[in-house]
Amino acid sequence: MSTAAYVFDAYGTLFDVHAAVRRHAEQAGPEYQRFSEMWRAKQLEYSWVRTLMGSYRDFWQLTEEALDYTLARFPSVDRSLRADLLSAYWTLDCYPEVPAVLKDLKSRGAKLAILSNGSPAMLEAAVKNAALDVILDDVFSVDAIRAYKTAPQVYDMVTTAYRLYPEAVSFQSSNRWDVAGAQKFGFRTVWINRLDLPDEYADHGPDLILPNLASL
Ligand code: LAC
Repeated sequence: MSTAAYVFDAYGTLFDVHAAVRRHAEQAGPEYQRFSEMWRAKQLEYSWVRTLMGSYRDFWQLTEEALDYTLARFPSVDRSLRADLLSAYWTLDCYPEVPAVLKDLKSRGAKLAILSNGSPAMLEAAVKNAALDVILDDVFSVDAIRAYKTAPQVYDMVTTAYRLYPEAVSFQSSNRWDVAGAQKFGFRTVWINRLDLPDEYADHGPDLILPNLASL
């Protein structure tokens, strides 16, 4: 079946989540990478736990709560960085290949969309900042259904909106757990393994593995 829609995860796939801390690396000190990794890991843990519990809070709140926890775990990092780190999240850099790849796919006539845990306001800001708003057809936020990935109803937002069978959708994510959820739902999946990480979720593997989006 030909691809009717290319759907992208946002954070880690189009936007560099670690750019926020990297921008303030000097002030954050020598542990800045571990700090950024914990911030991200906690943000995701909260999304999974809250979905399992049925206790939704939007992704901006989870991002703030995860940062507060991480600051508490890294006493060496100056708390006065909190506001700067949070505001950097609204203008994260997109990966360098992203605009050209999206333009090329658009010229082939497929629908282009983001499907993300991000709140609508966060996504709108990041998309505008990277000037992707003029290329993308839609930005789907899980906020509409108050459940996070990998709940199947998240992936179903796309097929319902576009009236497509899952196999007509190519879903790109750098998050291996997100690829597993999308594959289980029935999407064709591409794992963008930017960090050359080992594989996992072997029974829910991607159709294709690429080092970045350039060769999509
Ligand atoms: C997202 C997270 C998973 O954008 O990165 O949905």
